[in-house]
Amino acid sequence: MKYNFDEMVDRRNTYSLKWDGGDLIKQVGLTERYDNETIPLFTADMDLPVPQPLIDALHKTVEHRIFGYSVFPDEYYDSIQHWFRKRHDWTIKKEEIVYSPGTVHALNIAVKALTNPGDGVIIQPPVYPPFTTAVEGNGRVVRHNAMKCDSEGYYSIDFEDFEAKAKEENTKMFILCNPHNPTGRIFTVEELKKLSDICAENDVIIVADEIHGDLIRKNQTFTPLAKIADNTDHIITCTAINKTFNVAGLHCTNVIISNTEMRNTFTEAMGMQLPSPFTVSALIAVYNEGEEWLEQLNQYIDDTMDYVKSFLAENLPTVKVNIPEGTYVMWLDFRGYGLSSKEVHDRIYNKANVLLEDGDMFGDGGEGFQRICIPSPRPLIKEALERIALEFQDVEAINLIKA
Ligand SMILES: Cc1ncc(COP(=O)(O)O)c(C=O)c1O
Repeated sequence: MKYNFDEMVDRRNTYSLKWDGGDLIKQVGLTERYDNETIPLFTADMDLPVPQPLIDALHKTVEHRIFGYSVFPDEYYDSIQHWFRKRHDWTIKKEEIVYSPGTVHALNIAVKALTNPGDGVIIQPPVYPPFTTAVEGNGRVVRHNAMKCDSEGYYSIDFEDFEAKAKEENTKMFILCNPHNPTGRIFTVEELKKLSDICAENDVIIVADEIHGDLIRKNQTFTPLAKIADNTDHIITCTAINKTFNVAGLHCTNVIISNTEMRNTFTEAMGMQLPSPFTVSALIAVYNEGEEWLEQLNQYIDDTMDYVKSFLAENLPTVKVNIPEGTYVMWLDFRGYGLSSKEVHDRIYNKANVLLEDGDMFGDGGEGFQRICIPSPRPLIKEALERIALEFQDVEAINLIKA
């Protein structure tokens, strides 16, 4: 089956955060302007239709007409094991899998259950903002191991700083984002082994958020941390169908914990979580029959990223961007204009009426950047970029003269 990802599906009036959530979006301070003309490319949620087998499975669940309390059948666990064995050559045991209605929820539970108030938790900014909230919101202390960015915009880990932070007496946890949102890095086996060894030596638990792990750019490989670590006793891995298959609204994260004692503590803190029948049928459908769609999706995203890169090179050469190794977000560097972050924000959000995410929300190293989520029909991305380009024409012309 060939999917048509260029088709624009109207998402207004469907309770969509992106398309109907203006009040909330303004309330949390993402933008001042939100109206019917806004192009929202801010949250990691695709404007693309899901795999047909998923739609068929959900129809079947609806047609049953009763939506009572549900349980996880063996098929649910088999499907998870099958997917990770096939796609990532990673063998997971059934008893290691713990359901969570969300990844951010799982991160909060892990912090609360496995560390104490005042303990230190390492994160690697610029990084997905709820990592900071999961730490600080629970009375723990963030230890920043900022990602290093070279002159080509390529990010790497500052291992010397990481080790120093891991050795600090009350550092108890590290929340890893791999693939890394927003820089797009996929950490190599060597980097992962090094992170794992440092944490094991210093009794630091790693919570690996790998939910972008199926969104891999061409010629790249993703390796789950727990697959290659010498010892997985200190590792918790968050996996999810939400990013891969665009089903964030179905609330389905699966946390993999091989250490029995740690799993019991985590499970107890999570409490009994029964699934929705839609969640169960969705997971079984996508993990068994969603691969063909995912291949086409990744190809579409690769092509859109190539388009974005060449559009910028041609129309906004001052804005620097690299194709990420993983994820469907692009991290745009606007610093070359010499404008304040406020001015860049005003031109994009208020004048062009495009909703992205300001880089400073991602913490250290984010200032002057904008994150754009590009899994939308390409004509929409094209319109958004054209609107932005128009608002930077004057400064682009000045830069051209200077050059
Ligand atoms: C790295 C990362 N973790 C977690 C989430 C959110 O996951 P969930 O909706 O399952 O809480 C996102 C969403 O963008 C994300 O990028």
